[in-house]
Amino acid sequence: MSKRLIIANWKMNPVSLREAEYLFKEFKKVTIKSKNIHTILCVPFPYLYPLKKLKTILRFLLGAQNVFKDVDGAYTGEVSPLMIADSGANFCIVGHSERRAMGETDVDINQKIKLLLKNKISPILCVGERERDGKHTYFDFVKRQIVEDLKNVQKNLLKNIVIAYEPVWAIGKDATREATPVEVNEMTIFIRKCISDISSSSIAHDIKVIYGGSVTKNNVSDFIEYGGVDGFLVGRASLSVRDFIKIIQIVDKK
Ligand code: PGA
Repeated sequence: MSKRLIIANWKMNPVSLREAEYLFKEFKKVTIKSKNIHTILCVPFPYLYPLKKLKTILRFLLGAQNVFKDVDGAYTGEVSPLMIADSGANFCIVGHSERRAMGETDVDINQKIKLLLKNKISPILCVGERERDGKHTYFDFVKRQIVEDLKNVQKNLLKNIVIAYEPVWAIGKDATREATPVEVNEMTIFIRKCISDISSSSIAHDIKVIYGGSVTKNNVSDFIEYGGVDGFLVGRASLSVRDFIKIIQIVDKK
């Protein structure tokens, strides 16, 4: 089996480079010993380059949390895929629910994904329903996101995308509850089916599908055992040295 992915989403944390370097160095101590996972830290833009300079091992990768949908020009305040690549990012989160809530549309996400792939950065596409209702419309919701976000993406490049199932109700400090491993498993299978419908069963088999939403050192084991996922997108727990190291160790051993 190919290596699992443990992806940290630091969001707008920590607030100083000194703290960011501290977290990075602590995590590196365990990552260096891990054999079965890739650890990817998705950090605020200003930390990419300084952390790239500290990076010496391949199993430790860096990602950005957003990107602009063009490569250069008069876009005050935006950051180009070329810039994040140059600063050390191999990955970039797109379509996170917190950015969708700020107005990022599926059309924007689709443009960003194409541009990232063109510049050899792997998109981590977040999909997931805002709420669960009794009629299973959340499956249609996720399908629509996948179809629109991946519209006209070259089939041979799809395998470079990571899909993160992140039900919005399970994310962050306002989460109503965690998803169950069974719910995650159902959605993982469904996401692979959606990918198969737009490409082929072999691409659907190869693409990495991960889970994010209140992942902790206490529930990560069950998600691996019963959730059928290729890894995790971890928010709050990735800012705690003890918790994130434990998550890395648990997943590496599984
Ligand atoms: P959480 O965040 O682990 O704090 O729930 C996950 C995410 O937003 O990617």
